[in-house]
Order: sequence, then C-alpha cells, then structure tokens
Amino acid sequence: MKVMVVGAGYVGLVTGACLAWLDHDVTLVENDAAKRALLEAGQCPIHEPGLPELLGETMAAGHLRVVASLDTAPMAPDVVFIAVGTPPQPSGEPDLTALESVARGIGQHLDSDAGILVVNKSTVPIGSGNWVEMLVEEGLKARAVMAGDDPGKGSMAGHRFLVASNPEFLREGSAIGDTLHPDRIVVGAGDERAFAILRQLYRPILDQEFPVPAGLGLARHGHPVPLVETDLASAELVKYAANAFLATKISFINEMASLAEKVGADITEVARGIGLDARIGPRFLQAGIGWGGSCFRKDVMALQATAREYGVPTRLLEATVEVNEHQRHVVLVKLQEHLKILKGRTIGLLGLAFKPDTDDLRDAPSRAIAMQLLKAGARVRVHDPVAMPQARQQWTEMDLGFADDPLDLAEGCDALVLVTEWAPYRKLDLVAVAARMRGRLLVDGRNVLERQRTEEAGLILVGVGRG
Ligand SMILES: NC(=O)c1ccc[n+]([C@@H]2O[C@H](COP(=O)([O-])OP(=O)(O)OC[C@H]3O[C@@H](n4cnc5c(N)ncnc54)[C@H](O)[C@@H]3O)[C@@H](O)[C@H]2O)c1
Repeated sequence: MKVMVVGAGYVGLVTGACLAWLDHDVTLVENDAAKRALLEAGQCPIHEPGLPELLGETMAAGHLRVVASLDTAPMAPDVVFIAVGTPPQPSGEPDLTALESVARGIGQHLDSDAGILVVNKSTVPIGSGNWVEMLVEEGLKARAVMAGDDPGKGSMAGHRFLVASNPEFLREGSAIGDTLHPDRIVVGAGDERAFAILRQLYRPILDQEFPVPAGLGLARHGHPVPLVETDLASAELVKYAANAFLATKISFINEMASLAEKVGADITEVARGIGLDARIGPRFLQAGIGWGGSCFRKDVMALQATAREYGVPTRLLEATVEVNEHQRHVVLVKLQEHLKILKGRTIGLLGLAFKPDTDDLRDAPSRAIAMQLLKAGARVRVHDPVAMPQARQQWTEMDLGFADDPLDLAEGCDALVLVTEWAPYRKLDLVAVAARMRGRLLVDGRNVLERQRTEEAGLILVGVGRG
C-alpha cells in the first residue's frame, strides 16, 4: 500500500521503516531540514537499536524516502499517518499546533479523490479524531477557494477522507521489536472501511508473517497479534490509560520502596514476591529514581486536563505524579545523608538518557538531579554512552562537566550516582572506578549493581528501597 508518515521522529521513523520493511511504499514527511539531510545522507537522526540498518535497507530497496512537506510528496497515499510531536504545555494540555497544521495541510495538498485514510498515531486528547476530520475538511475547502471552486462542492466528509486513531505503544530502545511484534494493535474508527484498510496494512504483523530483520534478536510471535477495533474515543483513551497505568505501577513500587527502607525490607525481594503473582506481573515493578521520558508525564497531565474538563476527579493520577516528584529528590537526600555537606563536592552521574538504549533526554530524571545538585553547591560531572551531544546542545543552562568514559567520570568524585541502567554500567570495573574516586559512595538509582561485587571493590553501595 502507499503510505505517508508525517513527522520522522522516534515514532514516525520507526513506523515508516517497519512498514517499508513489510514492502509498503512509504514516504516520510519531515519539516526539520537537519533531520532530512541526515536521512538523505543515509544516517539515522536518533539512537534506536537496529534502526540505521532498517532505514538503510528499505531506502536502498526504494521502499522508503523522505520529503520536506505534504505538497512536495511524490504520490497520493492510501494511508497518511500523523506522527508529529504533541509536547506538554505548562497547563498540562498538549500542544497540538503541529497536529493542526498537518491535518489542514492534508486537506489542502493531498489528492482527496484517491480516498485517503488519515490516521492519528500521535498521542492526542480524546476527541481529536473528530477535530482532525474537521481540520482536513477545512483544508480541503481552503484548497477549493484557492482554485476558485465552490468550497461547498469540495466537501469530502464521509466520502474521500476517513479518519482513524491508531495509538502507538512502542518503547524507545526496543521500538522495532515493539512495532513488528506488538502485544496488540488498537484501531479506533467510525467506519468499517477504515478498519478494512488498516487490517490490510497490518496483515503481515497481525499474522506474524514476514521476514524478521536480522541482528536484533527478534522472534515472531507464535500466535496472531490481537487487533482491538473500537470507536475513536475509546482508542484515544486506551493510549492515555495504558501510560497512566504503567506510571502508576512504578510509582506504587516506589512508594513501597520508601516504606521498605524504613522497616528494613528489600524492595527487590518484595517486587519479586508480588510480581510472580500472575495478576500483578513482574514488569514495571523496578523501584528507583522514578519514571521519565517524553510520554508518561505528558500523557498523565493530558489525561488529567481532559478529566478536569469533564469534572472527573483523578486522585490516583495526582498521587502517581506526586510520588514520582518525590522520587527525584531521593538521590539528593541519600547524598546528604552520607556526605553531609554537598557544597564543594564533586558528584558524577552515570547516565543521562531517560532510559537505556535511547538518546532521548525529554523529562529525564538526570536533569532534575543535576539541577538539584548544582543548586546545592556541588560540581556535577556526567557521562552517557550516547546522549552527551544532545545534553551539550539542549542543557546549556547547566554548568556540567562532560566525561569521556565512566573511569574519567569517576576521577576525583566524592560520589557516583547510577542514573540510567545502561548495560555497560552494570559491568563496570568497580575496582578501577574506586581507585579514581576521592570518596567511596556509589548511589545505585536503579538497583542494578551487585552488592557483593561493589563492596569488594571498596565502595559503599546505596540503593533505593533496600533497607
Ligand atoms: N517517543 C515515544 O516513545 C512515543 C511512544 C508512543 C507514542 N508517542 C507519541 O507519538 C508522537 C510523536 O512522538 P515522537 O517521540 O516521535 O516525537 P518527535 O518530536 O521525536 O517527532 C516528531 C517529528 O515531527 C516533525 N514535525 C513536526 N511538525 C511537522 C510538520 N508540520 N511536517 C512534518 N514534520 C513535522 C518534527 O520535526 C519531529 O521530527 C507524540 O504524540 C508522542 O506522544 C511517542
């Protein structure tokens, strides 16, 4: 099928490359010239395992290309995915400026006679499906006016454009596997034709019948992927409810971790004990310095904003956010407890990205921790395997020392804090680390380091919730 994906970010790039891998003919529309230049030069603008190879192969096969705007797109697509950002505003509501301009642009520039399905893949407030339909129609009318036609005659409602919601659940760091082997696909629409088009588009994924990309350790499911076909509003709410639930699960275990510290329990044992209950499950029960990233805070805030509009209280969500805020202070408190004075101390942060295997710094706990330490008068040195160029570029307001590698980071530090559980940090030569440090304290913000190995290296290990 002919597919257009507007917005070649973390979601759009992966979606486009995976659909091209399934032999669809995909055009990415990206208005950031720097990203486009990288893609055209055969480079991947983000860090995502396996994505450079997938982009390279699908572009070389002629299944994937990138253009600057809807009006320069080379073909009339069967399906247009909107995958632009919907970042949070101070009010908590998402900024829908990009979505609005793309929806209008689709009406203005794409060939409506072909019967295009417009699919919201961006995470958008409930009701956005109807709003996008209205905007596409307005765009179409504007096109008719420009062409000197009667705008009334150009209306395509229910005829040439259909709108669907297809929320995205990929996780950065494992985005290709999540897209090709998802737990489920959710589609919301009000017209059977929209379901039929997306069933056809996703058929190889639904049936798990396609060549699996090599080198990523991926394996196809041994069963068909469940397809949830529902109405627009339910599909939109599924996305927010999923992220709110996951954020709540993490905040729950973090609240238990605070109690575990007081009563002398080990939260990793508690999490194992409850996670083996099939009703609870072991995932998203890792206590630590809290969740971050581009989605959780933004989506929980957006859900709260919608609930406010309808006068529905969201006490659980308020607590979820509050616990997470508290968790970001845990590192400072632990450092104060052990070092007493922070002024003049040097603290090294291992990891900047909000999670391993990505370069994404959006709402990363590392930023909040660095800010608190700087405010407390400490010097902050940092290291990350991939996200340092982004941090240098984006965090210009902070005076950070960038280290070349973890050993360089340890040099002269009074304490180290493991902020992001990158695989190489789990295997650090702790004896060599200890030899470079001025102090002995290692705060493990993700509870991933082995106590015995750390203590044998002469370091004092402090975890989260490990009484
Ligand atoms: N990142 C994730 O893990 C993730 C997971 C699930 C859902 N989502 C949702 O998907 C959406 C996209 O997220 P993302 O992380 O990919 O964002 P992103 O910021 O990485 O990517 C958005 C891209 O859209 C481009 N863009 C903006 N306006 C455009 C326009 N008019 N024409 C063409 N391109 C335009 C931007 O330049 C950018 O490259 C958001 O709503 C997000 O909440 C993200």
